[in-house]
Amino acid sequence: MTAQAPDVSVDDLLLDGRISLEDMVDRDALDELCRSFASLFGISVRIYSKEGALVADTAGEQELCVYVNTTTDGRRACSSTVAAVRSRDAGPSGDVMHPCFTGAAYRIIALEYDGRVVGRLIVGPFLPANVTDAPATLLDIPGIATERAATLLAKMPRAKLETVTRIAAHLKASLDLILFSGHKAFVTSKMHLMSVRESYRQLEEKTARLQEAFDRLKELDRLKSNFLATVSHELRTPLTSIIGYSEMLGEGFAGQLTAEQLDFVKTIHGKGDQLLSLIMSLLDLSKLESGTMRMTMGTMRLEPVLAEVVSTLAPTARKKRVKLALAPSGLLAELRGDPERLRQVFLNLVENAIKFTPADGTVTLSAAMIDDDGTSPDDGSEGDDDSGLALLAPVRTLVEVRVADTGIGIAARERPRVFDPFYQVDSSSTREYGGTGLGLSIVKRLVEGHGGSIRIEDNRPTGTVFAVRLPQAPP
Ligand SMILES: Nc1ncnc2c1ncn2[C@@H]1O[C@H](COP(=O)(O)OP(=O)(O)OP(=O)(O)O)[C@@H](O)[C@H]1O
Ligand SMILES: [Mg+2]
Repeated sequence: MTAQAPDVSVDDLLLDGRISLEDMVDRDALDELCRSFASLFGISVRIYSKEGALVADTAGEQELCVYVNTTTDGRRACSSTVAAVRSRDAGPSGDVMHPCFTGAAYRIIALEYDGRVVGRLIVGPFLPANVTDAPATLLDIPGIATERAATLLAKMPRAKLETVTRIAAHLKASLDLILFSGHKAFVTSKMHLMSVRESYRQLEEKTARLQEAFDRLKELDRLKSNFLATVSHELRTPLTSIIGYSEMLGEGFAGQLTAEQLDFVKTIHGKGDQLLSLIMSLLDLSKLESGTMRMTMGTMRLEPVLAEVVSTLAPTARKKRVKLALAPSGLLAELRGDPERLRQVFLNLVENAIKFTPADGTVTLSAAMIDDDGTSPDDGSEGDDDSGLALLAPVRTLVEVRVADTGIGIAARERPRVFDPFYQVDSSSTREYGGTGLGLSIVKRLVEGHGGSIRIEDNRPTGTVFAVRLPQAPP
């Protein structure tokens, strides 16, 4: 949608533009006003807009007019008089008389508002006080009977010029009031409309700008993911060679090394490994972000995965003198998942737990079945009044895995942020713990890719618990 300029300017509102009488006044109110004047003084009143449109009228016609209109020539003379009155300008004084062929007359008065002519007021026909007899212009019309014409002419409302002037002045004063309040209402409503239009236009502009920014960000995000994926992939191949060759060197395939050479080669190998795991993490993250991570989902059991994680990380824990234990669990339901990816999830979590737990601390991995609402299905309420209801309720059972450590803990305000890529609670250059801050962001995306959730809790008295909930495989 394109932005539209408001179609009424402030100048319009101040009557410089297309404002007309019809816009400003309520027609019913005007009609009412004209009718009450007509019944007070017996003289018809009509109001025309500046453009000549009839805005208000008093119903009813003089008997003489009805009679004249029964003859062809009379009808012709009448319509040409009416047309002349309708189109006649009120002149420089804003007030003129227009004679009718019947001897009657019309008074044409300019209606002004704020110094501008907005229409005309026509009072008549009435019989000026000085007219006593029917004129020849009436009597000469073929088919008009002199006597009848004279009788009907005498029935025409008779008025002195001053009286008509006074009537017109009263009417004008009342009209001024109506115009004033009408204009006020008109300006208010137009201003309201203008401000609504302006707000709408601004809103549209802002929405368009936001949409543009959003599209640009999305495109940048896509480019970043592509870039990460390509670079990571290209880095991996030479790195595999570096690791492979340094390993061969270390094992003496190219001749015996001195102790110092061996030390250097081991460093190359170790750093190469570290770099490779960083690249693999980047690759995983970019695939997860772009939605191109392939997961081989199947029905699986979690116990062997957890056991493997513990045996893989046991040496690391031992080196740090952290006790790593797998708590015995009851029978766990089968899951629908990718064992390789879930292994990655728990490896990351247990690795973190060991990393952030000082010597002599404990890391415990445990798993249990829980209900959707977080309770264990075994604490069921057999014999309770509502046990029947519980049977009917759709229970979705989850497998909850908890990785609890007695380490440094994570402050509550940091908890939502540790899942952001590259976020580390301690990001200083002197930080004690290694890593890049990618582990948890991958973990969260993988868990959510399995339809599960992850959250952080306190471990008493110190430490952290990462609780991962995964839905049980559908039967
Ligand atoms: N068990 C834990 N105890 C205390 N802090 C933790 C724990 N696990 C994660 N954190 C905090 O969350 C941050 C992010 O963790 P994440 O696994 O994403 O990154 P990392 O371990 O620093 O690096 P990477 O996993 O990429 O090697 C960590 O730097 C640490 O500050
Ligand atoms: Mg980590």
